[in-house]
Amino acid sequence: MKSIVLFGAGQVGAMVSRLLGADYSISCFADNSSAKWGTVFCGFPVVSPEESLSFAPECFCLCVLDAERAGQMEAQLRSLGFDGEILRPNALRVYDARVATMRLLAEQIREKIIPGDAAELGVYRGDFATVINAALPDRKLHLFDTFEGFPPEDVETERKHGISRAAAGDFSDTAEGIVKKRLPHPEMAQFYKGYFPDTFRLCTAERFAFVSIDADLYAPTAAALPLFWERLSPGGVLLVHDVNSTQFVGAGKAVREFCEEKGILPTPVCDLHGSVILRKEWSC
Ligand SMILES: C[S@@+](CC[C@H](N)C(=O)[O-])C[C@H]1O[C@@H](n2cnc3c(N)ncnc32)[C@H](O)[C@@H]1O
Repeated sequence: MKSIVLFGAGQVGAMVSRLLGADYSISCFADNSSAKWGTVFCGFPVVSPEESLSFAPECFCLCVLDAERAGQMEAQLRSLGFDGEILRPNALRVYDARVATMRLLAEQIREKIIPGDAAELGVYRGDFATVINAALPDRKLHLFDTFEGFPPEDVETERKHGISRAAAGDFSDTAEGIVKKRLPHPEMAQFYKGYFPDTFRLCTAERFAFVSIDADLYAPTAAALPLFWERLSPGGVLLVHDVNSTQFVGAGKAVREFCEEKGILPTPVCDLHGSVILRKEWSC
């Protein structure tokens, strides 16, 4: 087993600490931010890069996705005298645990013939909607977004409660047509352009087998959870993104409040921003 120090006590570091296999034993996190020194992150102590060398690690992992930043961190370790192996988690750019989870869930939904449509709140340019549409080609796909970016009223809620630095109009460089062109089965898509939850009124009787909630902000996430949950088929799934995001903490807050109220234990997904699965009870 190799002893390893994870350099970077942030979201990438958290994910790497959970993805590392049994061949590695994590000694600590190293971080350049002195504010983090002396704290515990994901169950491991956080120390300065200099102090991390006292653990005599056999290797380091540079827990950032930015290549330039990784280059600087590698140079820093070499200048501190570390001459062992340095890993870069480049595969995290290629493989996506949320996408993989969606595909596995879709296989299960098809195999068990769990009835209902698919939906996404927070579509932007359709990256994830494209994956859903490909994985569930014979299900109707309901797509909810302003297609004009974050709505000012939700941004105001974020500001008032000090939840995030979201700005009105972030994610506005999109349009329904852009998304439609990317979908492999556009004929299955129905677009609901406008403010959620207002647009949900147009969706009157549908039942859902799979719903992705990826609106980043507190207000739309808190509004979406009970609305979709109520219409979820037995065995159906809500996949909520950004629950452990450090940039947008509102999604996590909304999920915790909803789950506490309903007595639901969310299932975590090991992706970068910490998605969770909320599943309706199913019996065969
Ligand atoms: C992070 S983006 C979604 C990313 C997308 N799922 C993907 O795979 O690329 C968040 C989206 O939520 C939308 N959104 C946030 N609040 C909303 C609301 N109240 N009503 C409708 N759309 C909203 C924004 O317009 C934005 O496009």
